Amino acid sequence: MIDAPSASLEEAFHNSAERHERAWIFVAVVLLSLLLIGTMFFVVLDYGVVVGTAGFRRDPADLGANAGARLVQTGPHAYSVHMIGHLWTWTPSPLHLPQGATVTFLVTSADVFHGFEVQGTTINVTAVPGVTGSVTYTFDHPGSYNIICNEFCGIEHQAMIGRIIVDPATPS
Ligand code: CUA
Repeated sequence: MIDAPSASLEEAFHNSAERHERAWIFVAVVLLSLLLIGTMFFVVLDYGVVVGTAGFRRDPADLGANAGARLVQTGPHAYSVHMIGHLWTWTPSPLHLPQGATVTFLVTSADVFHGFEVQGTTINVTAVPGVTGSVTYTFDHPGSYNIICNEFCGIEHQAMIGRIIVDPATPS
């Protein structure tokens, strides 16, 4: 008998609170939807719709006459090599160099942005699809150098590791 009125009061309170909650959830969903649609609208307005095409994703072998080739000697201690980043490896790797080699890396990407960095050196170039960057470095010390990717490029980014092996000069 005593419980009946208080139970219905409580029930009324809960119904009212749930109505308010539903109303606010509805408002929040509408606002978030408008925000999402607005953001997509302005992104498409600014950048257009970007679709991966055959021209955008290329086979590393198609990137130039020397692409995929090994080291090319251009002088007594000078070399050049096309270094291509693709999901998720560096080509060529492992790359063998003689100690003292001055190497010009022509760096590009076959798909998305990658970061070409050789640990223990000053080599750090962004690999941009459709653009060839270059960096020249002299490897005075023999050893194994890691090529890492320092531009986030997807699920296997952290495993995108190549290798440069500088072979010691043979004593003459
Ligand atoms: Cu390639 Cu990160």
